[in-house]
Order: sequence, then structure tokens, then C-alpha cells
Amino acid sequence: MALLEIEDLRIAYSTKGGDAFAVDGISFAIQEGEYLGLVGESGCGKSTIAKAIIGILPPQGRIVSGSIRYRGRELAGLPISELRRIRWRDIALIPQSAMNGLDPVYTIEKQMDEAIAAHADMKAQARHARIAELFEMVGLNPARLNDYPHQFSGGMRQRAMIAMAMVLSPQLVLADEPTTGLDVIVQDQILERLAVIHEQTRNAMLLITHDMALVSENCGRIAVMYAGRIMEIGGPDVFAAPFHPYTMGLVNAFPDIASRGSELIAIPGTPPSLVDPPSGCRFRARCPFATTRCAEETPPLLEVAPSHFAACHYVDKAQAFRQETRAPATWRSAL
Ligand SMILES: Nc1ncnc2c1ncn2[C@@H]1O[C@H](COP(=O)(O)OP(=O)(O)OP(=O)(O)O)[C@@H](O)[C@H]1O
Ligand SMILES: [Mg+2]
Repeated sequence: MALLEIEDLRIAYSTKGGDAFAVDGISFAIQEGEYLGLVGESGCGKSTIAKAIIGILPPQGRIVSGSIRYRGRELAGLPISELRRIRWRDIALIPQSAMNGLDPVYTIEKQMDEAIAAHADMKAQARHARIAELFEMVGLNPARLNDYPHQFSGGMRQRAMIAMAMVLSPQLVLADEPTTGLDVIVQDQILERLAVIHEQTRNAMLLITHDMALVSENCGRIAVMYAGRIMEIGGPDVFAAPFHPYTMGLVNAFPDIASRGSELIAIPGTPPSLVDPPSGCRFRARCPFATTRCAEETPPLLEVAPSHFAACHYVDKAQAFRQETRAPATWRSAL
């Protein structure tokens, strides 16, 4: 049984213009101990998935249909009181705005202590020992436990948030842009920390980021989202030998991971509206290879290589597409 199994999940936000389906028919699973990277341009629904898993969608958001099962247990529609029992202990979130996620009026230790005391039956001394251990685990000096958040740098606050998430050794950690806004060196240190924690605890992780390099360095599996849907999912080959033109475009925009000395080519255009999404393939307006079929038929997510799935009608042309998408002129022709 998968640790987490998401099936045909649809999530809508009510907006003035109508329902925006930020997640529109998504299925994927995370196995025990697996590190899954979730990438895609801003606004494609990544954080919405994380919030839905842990049950903290804002009031305008709702799960319309589909299921989120944790160890076989349905989480969608579970009452808050039940979800609270799962949060921290089984599934923890390092939120996207983690830098501001600490309360300025309490010391770091006090905040961590409250989280432990609320969820675990541990004596004060044992809690203190656990907190000190977590501080060391994330590379913070336990001597700084009684500091207030403002005495910490951004990177230190981020580490403290990671320590908070690890308080009860959750089996699944949802890390939503855990290093955004930090300088590259601190980013590396934090990601290395998460990898070490993963080695030690064998927890599973959903790493959400725009940073393709982070994903290719850290994740055994990769999911690529676009406009509320998964376009491609699989192992490292998702970046090394993509089948979806959108993934090819993303890889091009990060020459680091392509490491073929190619120039950086951004995908022209912007993602479509989620209130009134286009028919067929949602990427077609920006895709250099789109045909009328792409407007008429929604390409299903099909297996293109062992455990590698892509949602494109023309996966049989992927090899040629990979070549062509390396030329900037190809992308100019799309619009
Ligand atoms: N509270 C909200 N009310 C209405 N729409 C929302 C709300 N939160 C998110 N959305 C919309 O849902 C879509 C997905 O948002 P989400 O935050 O999940 O994207 P994301 O992939 O995490 O983006 P980013 O990379 O910028 O964090 C966006 O189009 C956004 O405008
Ligand atoms: Mg987000």
C-alpha cells in the first residue's frame, strides 16, 4: 500500500469570476520513504495540493471530488479534530511562507515545546531533550533555543521551521518551497540537511519548488504540473529525457540541469485561466507542436517508459521534440 495515494483530486477556489479549479483531476502516490519533487510554474496548484493533504485549505477552497488516502485512510472530508491527530504526527508541512511562520512573541523553544506538548505525551525534560536534538539535526546551535525569532536570520528561521515539522518524526513531510528567498549557499545547506534527515528517518517527502535543479539533485521521482494537472511524472528521466513539451520547456529554462551548454530559453506566454481553462491539452497555446487534436482531445497521462507517464498525444515524437525545443526559434513559432 502506498503511504499517500491521491486519486482524481479536484479542488476549487470560489472567486468573483467563478470556481477556479486549481487542482483538476490529479492522481499520484507517494511510497514509504520516497522523495517526490513537484514542479511547475507559479499558480499551477502545487501549494493547493499540499494544503489539501494536510487539511488547511483556506475558506474559499474546497475539495470538489476525488480522494486523498494516507495509509489507506481517506483524509478528504475528515473532520478537523481527526485531521489534527494526523498533522505533525503522521504528516507535517513546512509551509511556503515558513520564514514568517514563527510567532514573534515567544522564544523558539517555547513554540516547539507547545507543538510537542499538544501532540505527544512527553514530560518537560524529555521535550527539552527532543527539541535540542532537533536543533542539532537541522544544524542550529541548541544554545540559541531561547532566542526570539527576530534574533534569527532568515536561514535560521527556516531551519527552525524544519525542526518544528520534524518534532514528532512524521512519516510524510510536505516541504513547500522550503528554501525560497534564501541565498544559494543557505539553500544548499538546508536541502542537504533535509537529505540527511531523510537518510536518518527514512521519511517520505513531497518537495514543492520552482527550482528544477533542487529537484534533480534531491528527488527520486518527479511530477510536473501545469494549470491544475500533472503533465508528466516518473523517475529522473522526466528531466533527462522528457516526453512532454512542457517539461522540455522547463528543462530548457534551467540550463544547469540540462548541462549541455545550451542557452536559457524561457517558455513564452503564461498559463491559462483556471476558471475557464482551454479544451484539450492545457499547454497547447504555448506548445510549438500543438495540432487541432490537442484542442479537441485531452491527452491522458499514459505510461511512456517503465514507471514514466506523460500526457501528450505525440509522445512517439518526443525524441525529435527534445532536439527542436533546444532551439529558441521553435518556441517563437508557438505564439
Ligand atoms: N485563497 C485563494 N482564493 C482564490 N484563488 C486562489 C487562492 N489560493 C490560490 N488560488 C489560485 O489557485 C491557483 C493555484 O495556487 P497555488 O498557490 O496552489 O499555486 P502554486 O503552484 O503553489 O504557485 P506558487 O509556485 O506561486 O506558489 C492559482 O491560480 C491561485 O490564483
Ligand atoms: Mg505555492
